Amino acid sequence: MSIYILGIESSCDDTSAAIIKDRKILANLIANQHVHKDFGGVVPELASRAHQQNIIPVINNALSKAKIHKKQINAVAFTNGPGLLGSLLVGTSFAKSFALALNIPLITINHMHAHILVHFIEDSAKKKVPPFPFLCLTVSGGHTQIMLVKSHHEMEVIGQTIDDAAGEAFDKAAKIMGLPYPGGPLIDHYARQGNPRAFSFPHPKVPGLNYSFSGLKTSILYFLRDALKHDPDFINKHLNDLAASIQQTIVEILMHKVRAAALQTGIRHLALAGGVSANSGLRRAFEAEKEAGSWDVYIPRFEYCTDNAAMIAIAGYYKYLAGEFAPQSTTPFTRYQA
Ligand code: KG4
Ligand code: ZN
Repeated sequence: MSIYILGIESSCDDTSAAIIKDRKILANLIANQHVHKDFGGVVPELASRAHQQNIIPVINNALSKAKIHKKQINAVAFTNGPGLLGSLLVGTSFAKSFALALNIPLITINHMHAHILVHFIEDSAKKKVPPFPFLCLTVSGGHTQIMLVKSHHEMEVIGQTIDDAAGEAFDKAAKIMGLPYPGGPLIDHYARQGNPRAFSFPHPKVPGLNYSFSGLKTSILYFLRDALKHDPDFINKHLNDLAASIQQTIVEILMHKVRAAALQTGIRHLALAGGVSANSGLRRAFEAEKEAGSWDVYIPRFEYCTDNAAMIAIAGYYKYLAGEFAPQSTTPFTRYQA
């Protein structure tokens, strides 16, 4: 008999609901929040209020799109962290009430693990699923991790950022250039027409498999401050080249440690996950390793890169099979924990 799971994601500024039937996604709807645009970043209080407004319509729409009745759902899975507390609480309260009302199990999902598990969604007959153990570069707005994935349930962080996340580096660089939030996709857009070797920015020296991106932000800030003194129109004139050079630097920094992790562990199955995995430069860099015969690579479909509830639903499916359910007393957490 098939298993139907409702997945709910509300950790940051996207309210999302998905319905999965075994490993197949029947609906995956996202209500984006536009209230943050004028502030150059996510405002936590506004995010929780918008989640409150969005959550019921998004879930109703997901049920209609999936053409199922709520009584057919076997379990409800929701993100319990890491994320913004007020945002997480909206998803948590809804999921608890839903489980209680329908007398079905409640499943808590770690947002970062869920990003990785999108590789197990069944969406085409040709899709290759990564075999365990594999490495996953998980890059988002709040985290940058090299994860050793041992099973659907067991994941170990073997490298991570000591300051800014890769997505944050994209967004902060974009902000310095006067682009709106989130700037990552815009840098990707302008970079397509630019020369990645036009400008060079320093690479950090961090031991082991860890990352640092705060120095890059500072060097872009100082470089542009000096350039604008000589030419106030410098950014406009060089937008494409700046975007391409910044993107190239971030991708090189990311790839350097991923190669080191592959060498160190001897693992040649490499996956990519998280919002920044939508970046065309990073996807190309992974593809190039595959073409060179170094690794087997696994790159998520675009709709599963940035925050979505399909990832929560597939993670919920594996926890359902393992019988890992949460009590009504469960509470969300803000910082990553294994
Ligand atoms: O995983 P995600 O949707 O949310 C978090 O869990 O943080 O990641 C969002 C991040 C943002 O920093 C956004 O700028 C970045 O992913 N991002 C991109 C691209 N699309 C999204 N960065 C670079 N290039 C892109 N195409
Ligand atoms: Zn995310």
